[in-house]
Amino acid sequence: MKKEEIPNRIQELKKEKNVVILAHNYQTGEVQDVADYIGDSLGLSQKAAQVEEKIIVFCGVHFMAETAAILAPEKTILMPDINAGCPMAAMITASELRAWKRNYPNRQVVCYVNTTAEVKAESDICCTSSNAVRVVNSLDGEKILFVPDKNLASYVARHTRKKIIPWDGYCYIHNNILAKDIKEKRDLHPQAEVWVHPECRPEVIDLADKVLSTGRMIKEANLTEKKEIIIGTESGIIYRLKKENPSKNFYPALDLAYCYNMKKINLLKVLKSLENMTFQVNVPLEISQGARGAIEKMVKL
Ligand code: 13P
Ligand code: SF4
Repeated sequence: MKKEEIPNRIQELKKEKNVVILAHNYQTGEVQDVADYIGDSLGLSQKAAQVEEKIIVFCGVHFMAETAAILAPEKTILMPDINAGCPMAAMITASELRAWKRNYPNRQVVCYVNTTAEVKAESDICCTSSNAVRVVNSLDGEKILFVPDKNLASYVARHTRKKIIPWDGYCYIHNNILAKDIKEKRDLHPQAEVWVHPECRPEVIDLADKVLSTGRMIKEANLTEKKEIIIGTESGIIYRLKKENPSKNFYPALDLAYCYNMKKINLLKVLKSLENMTFQVNVPLEISQGARGAIEKMVKL
């Protein structure tokens, strides 16, 4: 089959097999274009629970598909590439978290949604990049173990009186964006605002006009009067920003802010996933129940 025929074949198979395709904001343009919904990590998992279709092809990294499987246990969640993992989520395991917790008797554990289901099941509550401060401030305790992102933990620590004890994890994409990159892009585009993801380093956050999750960046881009914005996050999001706002200019803070795991998914793999109904993501019941508790506590907020 010729490459240009793949999108139509995907649409046919989707209808024939009654499948919905969800894609994260960091997916390539060609994958975003065949998706029924594009969104941020938690938004997509919630969408998975809401849609009528019983089969979902999830174009994102593994923890996102796992969260969808937890929130929609009666549905079949497929990933076009089962090896598309999030390296930051892999920076803490459930047994490491269990051992760490033993050192802190009076504490609560907040886990970022970028964690495995096992780690979520060991946590008191989950959070996302858009609600981490609210989640932490909603807790009764004063001592919070925050996993796995030290940069998000540091951002939260600036907005709470609670003691935040961070795990030493980070996203290598966001951590690679340096203050000098922001300064260089600002020199090139002096009229531009700077928006960064809270997974960025504290010194990058210091230079930003706005600190936003990917979902909020999309919303804000539709609302802002600004015509030029420097974007401090994975560069796949620029495709959607530009598509929805053709009159505005979006410049990546770092040209090589590229998540190789997100980009393991491509159009051909989406087609194969639909043809073969692969690769199914399953979460064992005992883990799923614990993880769901942490996610639902957050959603209730
Ligand atoms: P969002 O939840 O903002 O989509 O972020 C997910 C992610 O992986 C950021 O690197
Ligand atoms: Fe994980 Fe970073 Fe890729 Fe997001 S951009 S999926 S946090 S490695």
